Amino acid sequence: KLNNYWQGRKLLITAGPTHEAIDPVRFIGNRSSGKMGFAIAEAAAKAGAQVTLIAGPVSLKSSPDIERVDVRSAEQMFAAVKEHYQQQDCFIGAAAVADYRVKEAANEKIKKQDGVDELTLELVKNPDIIQWVAAQKDKPFVVGFAAETNNLIGYAKDKLARKNLDMICANLVGESLGFEAQDNQLTFITNNKVEENPLSDKQDQALALLAFIAGNN
Ligand code: C5P
Repeated sequence: KLNNYWQGRKLLITAGPTHEAIDPVRFIGNRSSGKMGFAIAEAAAKAGAQVTLIAGPVSLKSSPDIERVDVRSAEQMFAAVKEHYQQQDCFIGAAAVADYRVKEAANEKIKKQDGVDELTLELVKNPDIIQWVAAQKDKPFVVGFAAETNNLIGYAKDKLARKNLDMICANLVGESLGFEAQDNQLTFITNNKVEENPLSDKQDQALALLAFIAGNN
């Protein structure tokens, strides 16, 4: 099914959540487990690709033939991607990057204060990593993810166009699907194709994604 397409190709992939520090012991994050991105990285490495995996804070192991860079925040993930995006054949942004970070994280643990019943955190927008990759002259084939709770295909197509991606994988989140779950159901979308994949585990979705890229690139 995969033929030899991935043999010797270079794949850069982001996976997992990002954690945006509030103070040394607290953060803003999301419920991404990293399982989907790690499944793609493992499947691609097995298919002979040279894989670089930029991982947010997750508790997952990766095989030794994958070059892994561990990061915490969106800014760190962005720096790692900038360092590695050149000479890649494909970039897959499977990370659930936080859209905003705390403007100024405190250097010391924020204390609970008597009589202070409300605190305000000021947030600023994080860089859009995949959009940056897709805007480079020497860009690889760029694949994004769109995790949505509603209007899945509509929002995904919007994102494909707005971020100038080559392809987007739409997946519904919520209930037993998507974040934290074992199973997933991806719909592969390019400028001229929409292909819905049946529900299966993330390893199987990963193989289907790699096969789709092999056939459409
Ligand atoms: O806009 P949204 O965050 O839903 O887009 C999801 C896609 O964009 C995913 O592929 C995700 O990895 C990527 N993304 C990114 N940098 C951000 C936000 C999202 O690379 N700051």
